[in-house]
Amino acid sequence: MWNQRFDTENYIYGTAPNDFLKSIEIPSNVKNAICLAEGEGRNAVHLAKKGIDVYALDYSEVGLEKTTKLAKTNNVTVKTILADMREYQLPENNFDAVILIFGHFTNDVKQNVFAQIRKTLKKDGIFIMEAYATEQINMDSGGPKNPELLYSLEEIISYLNNEFQIVIKQLIYRDIQEGVMHCGK
Ligand SMILES: C[S@@+](CC[C@H](N)C(=O)[O-])C[C@H]1O[C@@H](n2cnc3c(N)ncnc32)[C@H](O)[C@@H]1O
Repeated sequence: MWNQRFDTENYIYGTAPNDFLKSIEIPSNVKNAICLAEGEGRNAVHLAKKGIDVYALDYSEVGLEKTTKLAKTNNVTVKTILADMREYQLPENNFDAVILIFGHFTNDVKQNVFAQIRKTLKKDGIFIMEAYATEQINMDSGGPKNPELLYSLEEIISYLNNEFQIVIKQLIYRDIQEGVMHCGK
């Protein structure tokens, strides 16, 4: 499904980074990062432009080809990992930052995604995430229509397993203009 969606000249989530990620001042100790479920690469390219060594992981090869193309256009390098987060194992204690923007999965996949995030982040690493909340189900501005794929704040916090200091935690309604798939309230 994702290969089919991405198989178009246009970047369906745009080429600009996600608004929430863009609003975060990335600490200077962040030297490497991985963007999970990164699709066409807009967030990875944003971080690479800051001089960060960036990996983009997705199970859509069409998305990752567009990531490489977008990186080239911006004169940066993004390393791509073609992998399914249902089972993929990330290296332990390896990344200064993990980014998960609109990474919507079934519960079993969520379990692995968050186990890998906890495992791969270094002690002072940061995790940045934005996703559609359960309340999004009745909105027509994007996001999955299967409620299991959406998130509640409590659910995300439970996946973090008391291993994180939470700096920003918010459930918001906002205007989104991030490509043709994500637009509106
Ligand atoms: C809504 S898109 C978000 C893309 C990107 N993060 C962005 O903000 O533009 C969701 C992405 O999750 C990826 N994805 C979904 N399930 C996955 C899985 N099990 N393993 C790896 N990638 C997955 C899809 O291929 C797609 O690229």
